[in-house]
Amino acid sequence: MHNAASNGHRNARHRAGGWEPLADWYDGWMGKNGSLHHQRLAIPAVMELLSAQPGEKILDIGAGQGVLAPHVIQAGADYTGLDASPSLLRQARKHHRQGRFLLGDARNLQRLAGMQANMFDAAVFLLSIQDMDPLPAVMEAVAWVLRGGGRVVILMLHPCFRVPRQSGWGWQEERKVRFRRIDRYLTPLSVPLKEYPGQGSGVSISFHRPLQHYINTLADCGLLIEQMKEITTYKTSRENTQGLQRVQARAENLANQEIPLFLALRARKACL
Ligand SMILES: C[S@@+](CC[C@H](N)C(=O)[O-])C[C@H]1O[C@@H](n2cnc3c(N)ncnc32)[C@H](O)[C@@H]1O
Repeated sequence: MHNAASNGHRNARHRAGGWEPLADWYDGWMGKNGSLHHQRLAIPAVMELLSAQPGEKILDIGAGQGVLAPHVIQAGADYTGLDASPSLLRQARKHHRQGRFLLGDARNLQRLAGMQANMFDAAVFLLSIQDMDPLPAVMEAVAWVLRGGGRVVILMLHPCFRVPRQSGWGWQEERKVRFRRIDRYLTPLSVPLKEYPGQGSGVSISFHRPLQHYINTLADCGLLIEQMKEITTYKTSRENTQGLQRVQARAENLANQEIPLFLALRARKACL
């Protein structure tokens, strides 16, 4: 048995409201339908892993301004989006007429009015789990709110290859190879992301954890992984250029097809 849960609780100091000052910036960037990465990569992967069925109750945790809502509703399922930012929820309600949007902290679902144990068939974290800390509190809460046999789908930046401020691309001239540099991986990190244009005080924090933390914490909470996807980005179209530029564009496309951008997984709550 791993004791990730107790470690995480000792660490419970992060405020959930970090995104509130960034709401206008985020909404402007995402729009109603999400970024290109959302539309082409992240949402299709989440919907495939989720396999939402008509009438199912789905909880979108860290829903932001609700980009997932129309997809879940179109599948005939019942959508609830939860977020800690009132401004993002206001935008969610403005963008999406259907679905329910609730203000709350993902680490404390057990204390949130209207939440009951075993009430959802599935839960989703779409690019939100790396904004939440500590992980064990979040996973205990999600395990509590899911029915036995219910599933959780998580899509995040791939923690092995995209370590905020501690990884990046490089070019090796002799081999004409574009490579991925990883400076740190095993140590969990809290990384303040840079302030966004037009935002005086907005800084969100990204939490890096190695893959073993995710898998062991899910297992500790009775959430057993049954499928995983490692998702690469799409080709850039610069291969039509000339000379070195062309060589570099090819190497870039190859690297983009080999080194994943996102990791997505589905885990299922054990039936006791
Ligand atoms: C990167 S945004 C992703 C939003 C949305 N899922 C999307 O893909 O556009 C992360 C979201 O997680 C929310 N969040 C962070 N910590 C939270 C917590 N403890 N409880 C609920 N929401 C939280 C933030 O307010 C923010 O809306």
